[in-house]
Amino acid sequence: MTAFRPLSVQAAFTLSGHYYTASQIFEQETQRIFRNHWICVGRSEQIADTGDYFLAEIGAENLIILRDAQGRSRAFFNVCRHRGTRLCHQSQGHLGETIGCASHGWQYSLEGQLRSTWRDPVLFEENIPSEENALFGCALHEWEGFLWVNLAPNPVPFMQTVSPLLNQFAPWRLASLRVAQQVTQDLQANWKLIFQAYCDRYFHPSTARRGFDSATRSPNLSTGAFLGASQAIDRHALPLPGLHGEQGNRAYYYSLFPTMMLSLYPSHAIAVRLYPQAADRTRIVCEWLCDRSAVNSEAIETWQRTHRQAWLGCEQVQRSLHTSRSNPASSLTAFDREYLRVLGASAFRLPQNYACHEGH
Ligand code: FES
Repeated sequence: MTAFRPLSVQAAFTLSGHYYTASQIFEQETQRIFRNHWICVGRSEQIADTGDYFLAEIGAENLIILRDAQGRSRAFFNVCRHRGTRLCHQSQGHLGETIGCASHGWQYSLEGQLRSTWRDPVLFEENIPSEENALFGCALHEWEGFLWVNLAPNPVPFMQTVSPLLNQFAPWRLASLRVAQQVTQDLQANWKLIFQAYCDRYFHPSTARRGFDSATRSPNLSTGAFLGASQAIDRHALPLPGLHGEQGNRAYYYSLFPTMMLSLYPSHAIAVRLYPQAADRTRIVCEWLCDRSAVNSEAIETWQRTHRQAWLGCEQVQRSLHTSRSNPASSLTAFDREYLRVLGASAFRLPQNYACHEGH
């Protein structure tokens, strides 16, 4: 068995290749990060009406995200309380008034309460207390038109978590925008490589795109879970109605640890969500949010082309990380530091034979 030793955040110079390839570290990330942070899973408009639902995956957990009879959004584990059968199979749809299990007919309300055991009503009435057999739920919060879930039993309140971002997005009126285009892509790359590629692109002036002035960091968003920067750009379309002054001629970039990136342009926004599948596999969902029916397909194609190149670069890096001589040559970025802080120094372990940069 491989021997492990702890590495402190202060001692780390950069993340070693193991952080992108080891299944043990991915498991730690799942427990400490993905199951304990608010994760964006979609848009409110996906469940516009009572009974609308879609499925979301966070690690091995499959969730039903739905609109209940009172118009509230809810998240339930997609598991029947009888014998654990998956309740919903289609990725999205409309449930009507109840959620039914195909195995033995148990029916749940849209609020998750057990309503009947359809094929055995006597058993239901005499032996199965409905209040003890409600669907397992998890925390869900709607904010800026996005739906966020947290699998932790007692999560930090959502609005407390995002307090550094309050009012940052208000001029774009994100809740009023609609998804004009969605692209999903599966990459053979660790989720951190994709997140870092975004941060490198927008938050480091040395690597900012040519033709743009240097990225300007948001002064209050240069460390921690949320990073922000902006750049002057040429505007090609009418700005959104809530924007004022230089907002109509700048692009604003935000990363929201751990899995979301948001780019705000004068005429639209682009939300990128990551769904880590394994140490070396990540699903990316990109959505273009617009307030007009006309979509600038040329801009979308340009964005896709440039980002596809960046993502393919992530796959190339991932392949090289499997070599025994892999050692990314960069200092810890703000993302790396937040990642290590959240993962926890005591849980942050490298194989003993890894040549880390202690002492730098
Ligand atoms: S497993 Fe769902 S009703 Fe039996």
